[in-house]
Amino acid sequence: MAAIKIPANNRNIANEIVDRPKNKILFRVAKFNPRVDTHTKYVDYDIEYDHWNTVLDALLTIKHNLDPSLALRYSCRQAACGSCGMIINGKPALACFTKINELGSDLVKIEPMSNFPILRDLAVDFTQMFDAHKKLKPYIIRSDSEISSSDETKEFIQDPSSVEKYIQFANCIKCGLCNSACPTMATDSLFFGPQALTQAYRYLTDSRDQGKNTRLKIIDDRHGIWRCHFAGSCSKVCPKGVDPAMGIQFLRGYLLGFRD
Ligand code: SF4
Ligand code: FES
Repeated sequence: MAAIKIPANNRNIANEIVDRPKNKILFRVAKFNPRVDTHTKYVDYDIEYDHWNTVLDALLTIKHNLDPSLALRYSCRQAACGSCGMIINGKPALACFTKINELGSDLVKIEPMSNFPILRDLAVDFTQMFDAHKKLKPYIIRSDSEISSSDETKEFIQDPSSVEKYIQFANCIKCGLCNSACPTMATDSLFFGPQALTQAYRYLTDSRDQGKNTRLKIIDDRHGIWRCHFAGSCSKVCPKGVDPAMGIQFLRGYLLGFRD
């Protein structure tokens, strides 16, 4: 069967002026519908791609031309919304942020993120991750009466060095790739996970926040901070440069009395 071409509307305009040769590649995509299937099956699709095409371009071409039933999640197509995480050739990555030609392989194997229940095919259920995220109170907590006073628009000024302390961790787009890479998540479904723990650190180090003790009490749990074995795989896969492994270690420092 001839390879299907990724259509022109997925092309980058800057590259339209250059007529580059197309390459062929085999996409092997996991399909599983928990309501009817007993096991995952892998379906092969021949794809013709240009050097600027992403894995997401290829999957949408498959969906629109070969298999409309293929389930996947995406939105922004620019590594901002965190929707398109999946396992690409064995590694957790964003489909919209992974160029086919950078994979250096003639075969691209696509699977749903590990450590998440599968809704269908490549779409996974984020409920547990978002529940853990909410549990750790990912917002500024004020214990004083300043906010509840008549002026609710009061500003809390921060200098650049205060912002520096948490800004890296504020870049999290909640894609779940860190949780997918985490070996502890694979063995403890109640583990809060690197995503939520890192956000606890992000708010705890914010000079406007007064919820430190509240959050430290929550994470001091056998499924919380102590369950991390510092494998570090979370930090290796983060597409936004967040370092969850470091954030978790810094959080531990508060409980062990090394930080205040
Ligand atoms: S820390 Fe990184 S990998 Fe984890 S959810 Fe946030 S952006 Fe995704
Ligand atoms: S589609 Fe939004 S991060 Fe990939």
